[in-house]
Amino acid sequence: MIKDANASNPRRGDRPVERRPRRTRARAAQVAPVLALLAGTASLAFAADEIHWTFTGPTSVTFDWRGADSTIHYGLDHAFEFTATGVTPSPLPFSSAGPFWEARITGLLPGATYHYSIEGNPNIGGLDHHFRTLPPAGSNYVAYAEGDVGDAVRYWRSRVVQSLIAEGSPAFVLVLGDLSYGNNIGQKAVDAHFNDVMMWSLDAAYMPVWGNHEWDEPTDDLRNYKGRFDLPNPQTSPNAPLAGCCGEDWYWFDCAGTRFIAYPEPYLSATWTDWNIKATALMDAAQADPAIRFVVTFGHRPAYSSGHHPGDRRLRAILDTLGARHDKYVLNLNGHSHNYERSYPQHGVVHVTVGIGGASLEQAQGGCPWLGGCPPPARAGLDPG
Ligand SMILES: [Fe+2]
Repeated sequence: MIKDANASNPRRGDRPVERRPRRTRARAAQVAPVLALLAGTASLAFAADEIHWTFTGPTSVTFDWRGADSTIHYGLDHAFEFTATGVTPSPLPFSSAGPFWEARITGLLPGATYHYSIEGNPNIGGLDHHFRTLPPAGSNYVAYAEGDVGDAVRYWRSRVVQSLIAEGSPAFVLVLGDLSYGNNIGQKAVDAHFNDVMMWSLDAAYMPVWGNHEWDEPTDDLRNYKGRFDLPNPQTSPNAPLAGCCGEDWYWFDCAGTRFIAYPEPYLSATWTDWNIKATALMDAAQADPAIRFVVTFGHRPAYSSGHHPGDRRLRAILDTLGARHDKYVLNLNGHSHNYERSYPQHGVVHVTVGIGGASLEQAQGGCPWLGGCPPPARAGLDPG
């Protein structure tokens, strides 16, 4: 059973989620003349953007956005019966001045679709956007995975990929690290990324993992990413970077009979050793739970790869062992190498690299996509690295 992240994330403490009838807003209209002028000015300067949301449990979601207005209105129909108020997230993103908001919404119906509006952005209030709680057991849903995304100014393919994802109307998108390349391009790229993905992130949950570009250079760090997400069943890894410390290094959630388990970056060798112990327990529990049919892992680095980045031997040994011991574990999704490839089952697990979120494809000299040169290796996708 998924625990409600609102009760399980001590780093953030209690959050003031406000649910009140709509008539409160009507009462506020009595002082409309002055406030309307002020609000109108604020809206022009700080229209809400970078809007996205995550699943945090079977009956809860969390919204993160930037803008002047910290209020979100939501409900099962366009009456928008309820209101939630965002708080300043911790850690606080630093890519721009913000203000940034994070609003936890709890007490929702399972498997339900809600309409919402964030004031300050006419595109949000005027269009019919929605969020939904986790798909219930037995239901069909669409999920997409992409890694190595960037922003559309630097990487034109990113806009195309985000548009294709939006056309698929997914329930959620697994974004497999190297989200913005803000460490290489500059901090504007971080804000640009979270605006670009609004093609789908207004209506589909944005479920991320962190890649090396989020933390391994001094020009960007995890505050920009941990501060923009609230994650289900958040976990703390040993040796995670101090910037953004501590927590939300990886997480897991159950969706319609499938257990999704993220894996962290290899900050030090102890990081994956610790993850292996905890992931084994999660898979043992899934194996014994008749409500769970499949287990999927997702992270940034590949265990198997014939692309630009070879498969990581330590990760491969861990995932191979998990696969051999848990026949429900059938799929691993990763990025890092900017290509697409899919393996045959390895100890029961198919490995798929989907580093095709928009950043430039990685090719060896002369346009050959394989690190060792062309022709492709005899067992592409199974290269031992
Ligand atoms: Fe990477």
